Amino acid sequence: MSEAVHDGRTPPVAVWQILDAMKGDELKQWRTAPVENQPAPEERGLDRLPFPFGWFVVCYSDEIAVGEVKPLRYFARDLAIWRGEDGKVRIMDAYCKHLGAHMGHGGKVSGNLLECPFHAWRYDGEEGVVKDIPYSKAIPPQVKRKCTRTWHVQEANNFVWFWYHPEDAAPAWDLDHYPEATDPDWTAFDRYDWIVEAPLQFLAENAADLAHFKYVHGTATYPDARIAYEGHRRTGLVEAKLGTPRGQVDGTITNGNNGPGQTFSRFAGISETLLVVGMTPVENNKLRVRFAFTQPKDQANGPLGNLAKALIKDILKQFDQDKVIWDRQRFVEQALICEGDGPIGELRRWYYQFYAEWKGATTPPAQGAA
Ligand code: FES
Ligand SMILES: [Fe+2]
Repeated sequence: MSEAVHDGRTPPVAVWQILDAMKGDELKQWRTAPVENQPAPEERGLDRLPFPFGWFVVCYSDEIAVGEVKPLRYFARDLAIWRGEDGKVRIMDAYCKHLGAHMGHGGKVSGNLLECPFHAWRYDGEEGVVKDIPYSKAIPPQVKRKCTRTWHVQEANNFVWFWYHPEDAAPAWDLDHYPEATDPDWTAFDRYDWIVEAPLQFLAENAADLAHFKYVHGTATYPDARIAYEGHRRTGLVEAKLGTPRGQVDGTITNGNNGPGQTFSRFAGISETLLVVGMTPVENNKLRVRFAFTQPKDQANGPLGNLAKALIKDILKQFDQDKVIWDRQRFVEQALICEGDGPIGELRRWYYQFYAEWKGATTPPAQGAA
């Protein structure tokens, strides 16, 4: 992910001209449209990267109402999500053990259970067992015990999150709560969506990739980013000149990762802004990305409201610019890092801890071993 920095573009980059020509709905559609002539994931080396484990955004809390069932696809799996009458959200593997219906399409909420649309078998979302078969006197023993995968689900910051781990290990850390996200003095989330045809690692590497700020984002200088790692956390502090309609303003951006899937940025200087980022893998070459911005209401509706809007626009533009690269980038295992690149190698070593399949290796396992 990128930071807001001074827009001092000098040489025109073809990509910018294409992006600049798109406005409103056209740009919005471009952000989630499939990329044409895309090579297979293996050709791009993307099959070499497993899914990282951690907490990931499922959806906004207001996208799943009490009594509602929806289909989901994340981590190359089909899932069903529902909110029980007790208000709790549950997620389960989508396919019914009986005759294989996808329960996210037409399933119903029965109390807190998920009822299959085909023959009404009712599943408990915590235990992963069938609790009731309305037309039968006996529940087969195979589905009386845990028979399907259930997922750890939590709500925080107006989002629904779930824990992904390839071996179904229990959550290894807690979600972060951002007080601004639920503060009545801050605006409701201003929301933006992308589909990026890349693995999540590419987006993580962006923060440590200092040279690209000049060539992709047109900054006049390379930002001075201080990045620190501690266990599953990464924190960054960027002091940068922010481009505004009123000229350059000194700004600070603090940002961080709580594992690979929970990311935030806080902007100060031009306007106070919290950006919550949700990035969830769908396939190994496809991510769903959500940006949710909130700002103090006083500021958003006050005389500097336009500056606050301009900051958001600048952040979106930078993400659009990065997307053009990520959508077509290959995974280069032995990246040829040179002086001035920034700590990309360090970022990768930190990131590889989230690949459970690699069992602690800090370089990709030999071909065919993973
Ligand atoms: S397929 Fe689900 S109840 Fe029959
Ligand atoms: Fe970037």
